[in-house]
Amino acid sequence: MGSTITGTGSYLPEKILTNADLEKMVDTSDEWIFTRTGMKERRICPENMASSDLGAEASKKAISDAGINPDEIEMIICATITSDMVFPSTACIIQNKLGLDNIACFDISCACSGFIYGLELARNLINSGQYRKILVVAAECMSRVTDYTDRSTCVLLGDGAAAAIVSYCDDEYGIIDSYLGSSGKYGNLLYVPAGGSRLPASHETVSGRLHFMKMEGSALFRIAVNAMSDAIKKIFERNNVNPEDVSLLIPHQANIRIIQGVAKLTGFPMEKVFVNIEKYGNMSAASVGVALDEAVKSGRIRRGDLICMVAFGAGLTWASNLVRWGKNG
Ligand code: UT7
Repeated sequence: MGSTITGTGSYLPEKILTNADLEKMVDTSDEWIFTRTGMKERRICPENMASSDLGAEASKKAISDAGINPDEIEMIICATITSDMVFPSTACIIQNKLGLDNIACFDISCACSGFIYGLELARNLINSGQYRKILVVAAECMSRVTDYTDRSTCVLLGDGAAAAIVSYCDDEYGIIDSYLGSSGKYGNLLYVPAGGSRLPASHETVSGRLHFMKMEGSALFRIAVNAMSDAIKKIFERNNVNPEDVSLLIPHQANIRIIQGVAKLTGFPMEKVFVNIEKYGNMSAASVGVALDEAVKSGRIRRGDLICMVAFGAGLTWASNLVRWGKNG
């Protein structure tokens, strides 16, 4: 008995924030952003929408792609660090937007690694025999925690959502294995200081801009390259897999130079690495899911292909998985 991805979907808000737009907001340049990150533009959520709206749209597409009735879904796992509210969970809000009721719904907070963590949770719950169809959705409005006066972070982030239907299967296709890791000692390299129980919202937290993301970029850069490369090597070793066996590597899209560094350290030619960073920037948990959906829909993944996803983010957290793609088209 195993579990496989039977449908994917993604949703990107229409509004585009280009490097040229950012040049008018902070002291930066298209040249700096593109050469240092590989990004050209990113999507921004409209004021009247939140993460659950993006997540619900992506989920509808995944449900339709899987060709299932929404009522067949038994659980919703939402990966987000930009939940609509402190509580209830964004998964419960998405459930309501999908017209579902009486199923298990909860959020997970693993930042950029969240989609892979969610898939792994779904895989194990399905393999336990208790569930047959789980919706994993990653939805992020990173623009809501971005300080558009801080050039070191505001050029990097975008909004979007992705979803996957993980289903019971009894053939050789599906999610084979995942490797998950984290290191809380580096939590101070990437975080939003206020808005939780440590520093609830106050005039001081607002005036101190403490509801926005703080990041130590260059320290993170080094750890990201090593942690993602290590996550790939570990999952390959455990499953006796080589880069030649894998058709496509789908990495988190935080920086093209991180992706190139990981590809080099793990022996992947860039032709076998999926990159869409120029269009969307870093969408945290949604990045890997959107990349997976685009890779499938553009024909870069076919039935029988072995693919590897890998991510790294706040926590710090990291994750990799191996999937033998089982869906046609
Ligand atoms: O999602 C997972 C977690 N996030 C990450 O993994 C992000 C990892 N880090 C990175 O991607 C890179 O470190 C950044 C893109 C954030 C920064 O690139 P960098 O090559 O590490 O630059 P740096 O931070 O070392 O800064 C180099 C210079 C500095 O100026 P000085 O001190 O050399 O005069 C910065 O002030 O670039 C300056 N700088 C900028 N200049 C123009 C920083 N941001 C900008 C900017 N435009 N937007």
